[in-house]
Amino acid sequence: MAKKIKEINWDYAPSLESTSHIEVKEKYELFIDGKFVKPSSGNYFNTVNPATNEVLSSIAYANEKDVDNAVKAARKAYNEVWSKLSGKERGKYIYRIARLMQERARELAVIETLDAGKTIRESRDIDIPLACNHFFYYAGWADKLEYAFPNRKVESLGVAGQIIPWNFPLLMAAWKIAPALAAGNTVVLKPAETTSLTAMKLAEIIRDSGLPAGVVNIVTGYGDTGAAIVNHEDINKVAFTGSTAVGKIIQKAIAGTGKKATLELGGKSANIIMDDAPIDQAVEGIINGIFFNQGHVCCAGSRLFVQEGVADVVIKKLKRRMDSLIIGNPLDKNTDVGAINSKEQLDTINKYIKIGINEGAEMYQASCEIPKNGYFCPPTIFTGVAQSSTIAQEEIFGPVLTIQTFRTVDEVIQKANNSPFGLAAGVWSDKGSRVFNLTSKLNAGVVWANTYNKFDPASPFGGFKESGYGREGGMHGLSAYVKLK
Ligand code: NAI
Ligand code: MG
Repeated sequence: MAKKIKEINWDYAPSLESTSHIEVKEKYELFIDGKFVKPSSGNYFNTVNPATNEVLSSIAYANEKDVDNAVKAARKAYNEVWSKLSGKERGKYIYRIARLMQERARELAVIETLDAGKTIRESRDIDIPLACNHFFYYAGWADKLEYAFPNRKVESLGVAGQIIPWNFPLLMAAWKIAPALAAGNTVVLKPAETTSLTAMKLAEIIRDSGLPAGVVNIVTGYGDTGAAIVNHEDINKVAFTGSTAVGKIIQKAIAGTGKKATLELGGKSANIIMDDAPIDQAVEGIINGIFFNQGHVCCAGSRLFVQEGVADVVIKKLKRRMDSLIIGNPLDKNTDVGAINSKEQLDTINKYIKIGINEGAEMYQASCEIPKNGYFCPPTIFTGVAQSSTIAQEEIFGPVLTIQTFRTVDEVIQKANNSPFGLAAGVWSDKGSRVFNLTSKLNAGVVWANTYNKFDPASPFGGFKESGYGREGGMHGLSAYVKLK
């Protein structure tokens, strides 16, 4: 959807990514033991394009029996094939998956955008390349585990149950599957109910790669399907990314069972602008941190802290940049802000916007037209926010930014750390010593300096406090899938 930029007064011509090269089937089955099988309940649910509300496909609903079949297939593949293969052979399969994904990158990007509502720019330039890179990166570790953990005997865990969210569907599948396979485990993975399509495409790729049957099983369904995986007695490890509420349920469910777990939960990350920061870059960093991805990032820079001396200019420039953002059809290459992933999520975001207004904060929304069909929310900022405001404390997971000011470094450290979460943070300053001082005092798993939302497969990611525990990515990500003796 082209949009007029107020002060410039010219339009971008629409530049739609083609959908002619992709195949989305009417129906997707479960991927168990190397085959696509019907769900034992016979039930399917729809997945929609959140930008248009059109049904894209129907997805099999896996119940406990299907999950049991998947776990049995994974156990058998573990005992009979995968745990007996050398690291070098495992690595070859993982490389093959990576290459097949790369060959089909364009198709995967378009499907991700259709199913999740995220912009084609994001799925094409971030999600899919990073997902491929994850497989390439961990393929390289498969035959080098003894170097990752020197002087230790490294053993795989067994069957990993993996449950992923809807914000980076294929990327989260890659984060989970690649290190598990590299370390010698087999997998039962469940994508989120609103975004199963790229996981099913990955199932096709895995089948085409010749990976032995049962090494990766993909079951689709709702939260109860996820719970059936978590509670299955023959799972050795649970890897979960999603809400803190479900993370807590999982932690309770596995207590005392000996199952290993990594939980990557929510965030309320601080983005801190010091008065010597490069202001224009910082404003772009704020936009990138919370608006380019509809705020659907666990590490989104959703709490902005600006030093008083530059607060006025930062907020003025931020509003101007917000007004130039193009919101609309996620398949349009010009679009900056795509659709909210689901009606439920849009309702949650709107609920928080109301709370913000009722609590007395001052709201500003980007002056852009919102498409009529589908689920959209304009980029929104709140000033006059108190530290205790609900919108500054709770995760919103939408394009909603709270802005607070500060005078001293100690004050901003205290404010930034005053959160139940501890996933990420950003610091903008021209001075290295200021950056290092802040980064060492922020309680966050990842701290970016003069940038935001940068990822690399070699660098570990994860949080403190209610943001969860365990690390994904890098060598740390491997250790979550091994026993060391
Ligand atoms: P959710 O935590 O309910 O869903 C994440 C995944 O867990 C999905 O695959 C879901 O089917 C599964 N699941 C749900 N209940 C389960 C259970 N009892 N046992 C096992 N698996 C279960 O997240 P939801 O409802 O989609 O979003 C709610 C909020 O969670 C968002 O508003 C956001 O604040 C947060 N969130 C955080 C994410 C992150 O990356 N950390 C990703 C998605 C949501
Ligand atoms: Mg969908």
